[in-house]
Amino acid sequence: MEPSLEYDEINYNDLKHRVKMLAQKIVEDIPEGEIPLMVCVLKGAFVFFADLTRDMGDVMIETEFMSVSSYGDEQTSSGVVEITQDIGVNIAGRHVILVEDIVDTGLTLNYLRDILLRREPASLRICVLLDKVAAREVEVPIDYIGFEIENVFVVGYGLDYAGHYRNHPWISVLKESAYKDTESE
Ligand code: PRP
Repeated sequence: MEPSLEYDEINYNDLKHRVKMLAQKIVEDIPEGEIPLMVCVLKGAFVFFADLTRDMGDVMIETEFMSVSSYGDEQTSSGVVEITQDIGVNIAGRHVILVEDIVDTGLTLNYLRDILLRREPASLRICVLLDKVAAREVEVPIDYIGFEIENVFVVGYGLDYAGHYRNHPWISVLKESAYKDTESE
């Protein structure tokens, strides 16, 4: 294991299995005859999104991507979110499924949810791979949750620390020593 990683939080097989289950549930919930719009929140959700959508089989979906950046430091988000790349289509009347890698304080998702609901989709569902329940500051209704995790710093499977580890194939916990030096700077 990479020396900055403490232990594996969720291994590759458990991830794959759970993502498949989420995909099945999402497919079951698609209203008859509708083509849902799956929206990936970059950057962290890109790996999860790629697996999730492929696990949906031959069901017709459309995909969109949005980029957000939250003002805050590496460990905490401030809740002030800037959309740096918006969805390219009108979502009014569409069945939208927003896909995120992690919900921590809930500030980012809460903001995104408000913004998207104002655009009057037919429905808005939220799918999150990881739920850090203990860190929640604002409640956000989440329809599909992969795993609840402890309040630990996780990386891999799309999640980063300072831009690194997104390509680590599963979810691992970062050693405190890897980030606590920069905290005091
Ligand atoms: C992460 C994650 C969520 C947000 C969750 O994004 O993808 O968007 O933090 O935190 P919150 O619930 O406390 O608001 P990050 O800012 O790390 O950007 P990234 O997805 O580009 O890595």
